[in-house]
Amino acid sequence: MSSSSGEKPRRFTTRNLLERKSSGEKIVVVTAYDALFGRLVDEAGVDVVLVGDSLGNVVAGFESTLQVTLDQMIYHASAVRRGVQRAMLVVDMPFLSYQVSVKRALMNAGRIVQESCAQAVKLEGATTEVLRAISAITKVGVPVMGHLGFTPQSVLAFGGHRVQGRDETDAKDILEGARRLQDAGACAIVLELVPAGLAGEVTRSVSVPTIGIGAGADCDGQVLVLPDLLGLNDRFHPKFLKVYASMADDVRAAVGRFGDDVRDGRYPDAEHSF
Ligand code: KIV
Repeated sequence: MSSSSGEKPRRFTTRNLLERKSSGEKIVVVTAYDALFGRLVDEAGVDVVLVGDSLGNVVAGFESTLQVTLDQMIYHASAVRRGVQRAMLVVDMPFLSYQVSVKRALMNAGRIVQESCAQAVKLEGATTEVLRAISAITKVGVPVMGHLGFTPQSVLAFGGHRVQGRDETDAKDILEGARRLQDAGACAIVLELVPAGLAGEVTRSVSVPTIGIGAGADCDGQVLVLPDLLGLNDRFHPKFLKVYASMADDVRAAVGRFGDDVRDGRYPDAEHSF
C-alpha cells in the first residue's frame, strides 16, 4: 500500500518471502507489463510483481513465450519498475537467455538487474544446466525464483498446456527438482499446472516458499496473470483461473460509447472544450 505520510514504503524482499514461509501468511503475486498496471497492483497491496514472459501471449499476441527476447523483457521490466514502489520486482529470463552457458546466463541476469532494477530473476526447469546457472547467479548476489511443473518455454516439448506430475515418475521428478532448486539457492519456486496433492507435498518438503498457479491451495502463495484475473484476456478460460473483473466487456462498452458520442456530435461538448 502507498504510505499516507509521503514516506517511501518499505520494499518487500527475499527476506520477507522466507518469513512468510515460516509464518504461514500467504504470498500474493501478479504479473504486470507496464508502469500503469505496475502502480495499480502495487497500490492494491500485492507482495511480488512478476514481469512474466507471458507478455509474449498477453501483450504481443504470440502463441507462446518462445518469441520473447531479453531486450523486450528489459523494456517492460524497466517500465514496471517505474510504477512499483513497495512490491518485490521479479523478472522472467526469456527462452535461451540462460540455457546456452552459465556465462551467458550470468551476463543476462546482470543486464536485467542493472537495466530494470529487478530484485530477482526467474528461470524455468531444474536441468543440470539450469541448476548451474542458478548457482552462479545467486553467488553474485542476484536472487533467483525457480519454476517447475508446466514450464511454458517447453510448451513444444510438452505438446500443449498440460498438467504435469500426474504419474509417479513425473511427480518424483518435480519433487526432486524442487529440492535441487532449493539447494542451488532459489529463493522461491513457482509450481504451474501441478496436482494439488503433489504441490502440497513439494511445499512441505522445501524450506523456500512455493507460489502456485493451477497448483491447488497448499502452496505458500498464488500467482495469476493480470489480464486473466481482470477478465481482459477473455478468450482464456483454464480451470484454475478465477476472474475478478469484466474488463474486456468494460473496454468494449466504454470505447463503443465514445464512438457513439463522436459520431453523434455529443463529444466534445462545451464542458470538454477550450
Ligand atoms: O510468465 C509468467 O507470467 C509466469 C507465470 C505464469 C508464473 O511465469
